Amino acid sequence: MGTLRPHRRLIGRRRIRQRVRELAQQIEGDYQGRHLLLLGILKGSFVFLADLMRHLRLPVEVDFVGAASYGHRARSAGAITLYHRPRLPIKGRHVLLVEDIVDTGITLAQLVKHLQEMGPASLRVCALLRKKKEGQAQVEVHYLGFEIPDEFVVGYGLDCQEQFRHLPDIWTVRGVEP
Ligand code: IMP
Ligand code: MG
Repeated sequence: MGTLRPHRRLIGRRRIRQRVRELAQQIEGDYQGRHLLLLGILKGSFVFLADLMRHLRLPVEVDFVGAASYGHRARSAGAITLYHRPRLPIKGRHVLLVEDIVDTGITLAQLVKHLQEMGPASLRVCALLRKKKEGQAQVEVHYLGFEIPDEFVVGYGLDCQEQFRHLPDIWTVRGVEP
C-alpha cells in the first residue's frame, strides 16, 4: 500500500463549528463561578481547543500535556511517558482535559490516572471524537463531540504521519499507490 490521502469528508466544518459551540455551552453551564484550566493533549487537540476556548465566557487558563503511549498495538495497559509536562500547577485546579480523539482509550485512561495523582480540585474529559469500537479502555468522557466509526481520520488538528492537521474538515483516509 502506498501513502494515505484524505478520501471521504466525514464531518464538515459547519457541523464541527456547531457542535463545538454546543459543547462550550454545556461546559460554561457546568463551570459557572469557577476558574477553568484547559489542558490540551498534544498535538492533535490544539485546533479544537483553540475554537472551544473562544466560546467560553469563563475565566480560563490554558496549558498542554504531551503523552506518548507504548504497547498500543499490544493493547497492554502500558505506562505512558509524559514528553511535555504541564507548566501550570494542577493541584487544587478545576482541570478539563481536552483530547482530539479516543481510539483505544489507553492514552486518556493513563493520563487521567496520572493527573488525578496531582490532586486537582476536579478533573473532567472533553474529546472531539470517539471511535465506536470493542475493547476500548473504560474512560469517562464528560463532553463528547462526535462518535465515529472505527476508521482512521485526519484534519481539524488530527494527523496521519504529521500530514493534514490543517484541513478545516474531518476526513477518512485511503491508501493510494505512489
Ligand atoms: P488511544 O490511546 O488509542 O486512544 O490513542 C489516542 C491518540 O492516538 C489520539 O490522541 C491521536 O493522537 C491518535 N489517534 C488515534 N486514532 C486516530 C485517528 O483516526 N486519526 C489521527 N490520530 C489518531
Ligand atoms: Mg492525540
